[in-house]
Amino acid sequence: MYGNSMRQWVRGAGVVVIAMLGATPAFATSTGISGNSGKDTQTCNTCHNGGTAPTVEIEGPSTLEKGATGQYTFIIRGGAAMTGGVGIAVDNTEASLQAGTGMKKLGAELSHSAPQAFTGTELRFNFSLVAPATDVTLNLFGAGNSANADQKSSGDRAAATKLSIKVGNGTPVVEDPGPDDGDDSGGCTAASSAPVWALALAGLPLTVRRRRRS
Ligand code: HEC
Repeated sequence: MYGNSMRQWVRGAGVVVIAMLGATPAFATSTGISGNSGKDTQTCNTCHNGGTAPTVEIEGPSTLEKGATGQYTFIIRGGAAMTGGVGIAVDNTEASLQAGTGMKKLGAELSHSAPQAFTGTELRFNFSLVAPATDVTLNLFGAGNSANADQKSSGDRAAATKLSIKVGNGTPVVEDPGPDDGDDSGGCTAASSAPVWALALAGLPLTVRRRRRS
């Protein structure tokens, strides 16, 4: 009956759609990838292999005023040096990254928008970082892949680096850890062996002073 053939048609169309989805490469990353900047240890070398590692560098200010925008350049030198890409991340959620030419934003991170051609043995990615409005020291992570332009993950290799940036007065804004400074949780009351009430009292004047300042 009509109902039956309709159902069959729908099922057939579903199979076609699934087949089409299956045809796209599982890891098409030449148009950018996040999670491989080195911030969470993983870099492009999870997949890219066989090439010679480049040297990489992040150029730009290591101190910024609170809320200021800093201009940075991620430089890849050497390796296969035909085309390349990059993954950039920052370990502070209050900071934000802005993509320059040849880059795009992926979540909170930056990556290449397509493989970029080297100029000689060098490839540069310009981007900016907007600093948080608070005193903090943050880390900018970057991994750069030097590729042979064969549109495969072989014959390429990445290297990673990081840059520490002191925003305002930076961290730690150490609240004196007292005699119990073997503990690197840095004044977290719960983890400290000092009585909680003592820490709370010690923290009180600081809190008040900070409120008044702002
Ligand atoms: C999950 C595996 C995987 C990870 C991780 C990965 N890639 Fe790829 N990448 C591939 C594959 C597969 C290709 C080839 C297919 C394509 O073009 O997408 C590729 C292609 C590329 C190409 C073109 C290579 C060439 O020789 O033409 C560039 C450039 C590139 N990736 C950059 C990066 C960068 C930069 C990172 C790290 C921030 C990265 N990739 C991380 C799998 C990966």
